[in-house]
Amino acid sequence: MVESGQPVTMETIVSLCRRRGFVFPSSEIYGGLGSTYDYGHYGVLLKNNIRSLWFRTMVQERDDIVALDSAIILNPSVWEASGHVAGFTDPLVDCRTCKLRFRADQLEQASCGRKPSKRPGETPDCDLTEPRQFNLMFETHVGALQDESSAAYLRPETAQGIFINFKNVAQLARRKPPFGIAQVGKSFRNEITPGNFLFRVREFEQMEMEFFVPPGEAPRWYEYWVDQRLGWHRSLGLRDENLRVREHDASERSHYSSATSDIEYLYPIGWQELEGVANRGEFDLAQHTQHSGTKLEWIDPDGNRYTPHVIEPAVSIERIFVALLCDAYHEEVVGDRERVVLRLHPKVAPVKAAILPLIPRDEGMAGRARALYEELRRHQVVEHDEGGQIGRRYRRQDEIGTPWAFTIDEQTLEDETVTVRDRDSLAQERLPISGVRAWLDDALERDWSSPQSD
Ligand code: GAP
Repeated sequence: MVESGQPVTMETIVSLCRRRGFVFPSSEIYGGLGSTYDYGHYGVLLKNNIRSLWFRTMVQERDDIVALDSAIILNPSVWEASGHVAGFTDPLVDCRTCKLRFRADQLEQASCGRKPSKRPGETPDCDLTEPRQFNLMFETHVGALQDESSAAYLRPETAQGIFINFKNVAQLARRKPPFGIAQVGKSFRNEITPGNFLFRVREFEQMEMEFFVPPGEAPRWYEYWVDQRLGWHRSLGLRDENLRVREHDASERSHYSSATSDIEYLYPIGWQELEGVANRGEFDLAQHTQHSGTKLEWIDPDGNRYTPHVIEPAVSIERIFVALLCDAYHEEVVGDRERVVLRLHPKVAPVKAAILPLIPRDEGMAGRARALYEELRRHQVVEHDEGGQIGRRYRRQDEIGTPWAFTIDEQTLEDETVTVRDRDSLAQERLPISGVRAWLDDALERDWSSPQSD
């Protein structure tokens, strides 16, 4: 939210990310590569936090889910069996006039390359080809020969790596349905119309979990996972009013899915899919059984065989990254100064605290600040900053979402106390320097909700 009460724009978020080194356009010195991004220091820290919070909730804190890290390049037969070779396509049209490509099913939202821009097909000059199906998988070759026999794909989703390991995991991890396999890793899609910053990119990091259940239990587990995942996004601090669940109607669902819900976020571009939760039935295990000849089924202790059904929550770090920044962004005037503040939940904030000597050239303050920093950095990601006026240093930390700043001042030299400044309320209190580490650990465990909520 900006001071005027207007919602934040994607341009504002892109500019903050650039200015503070969260995200850079990739290959920039060579003119970039469409919709591809590199992450700077704070971007990496934020992504690490999202990934580790997901892993903690989905694996570490559960008895019924185990982890997997499968290869990015799989045997191409995997993608035949999964249906991606035949059907992972978007309809594409070219314009012979402006030479741009569009998704045929999204012409209403597209604009053409001419000035002033028009909707493709809107004017008699637009010369659109007939739609043709375009496969979104990136092709590559394995080995020295570059012919059809060596063709392979970069995975467009992590899920298939899980299905093909069902038997390994079920046997070796000694799990019986209901149980899940979770995986985090890069996926690649040659999107026709990437864009809106990180929202739709060609290379992204998916966090997917396939939950294998007895067929009769699938509807119940589907409801369960929609609830769990919505609750998880709330637990990251995303505001309730910006989250909703939208159930797909039958025309929208994949042919194998009996139920799918999107957890949507109100991005600056409108309500859009943040995470998908699907009841995939027995489709994937049955397909891989048929194509590989290996039976991917469960045999219960009474000898009854069945193909488990699958409930799948799937999300990318990129979509969460953008949602978190949009939700947290706030511009305000404090006193006579403007500040930009990222009100991120402390547990997702890239830096947990800043340690600031009030007068850096004062040896006593500088020494104590350095010692406190050395102590805290062993436990948390913290920053030591002695460059510039204290007000500027606070504002730098506000802009990257650091929840607390510990300031070492004259009084510290007298009574070994420091001030702690709260990013959201701007309240300051004093505490003993020896208690800072415990205070920070406690503060990170406290409940937090966005002060920007309605
Ligand atoms: N295994 C199921 C699957 O991949 P999906 O709806 O195509 O389903 C799941 O993708 C999630 O991956 C989406 O909800 C979204 O969070 C993320 N995602 C998909 N395509 C993306 C892209 N081009 N850029 C960023 N994130 C993407």
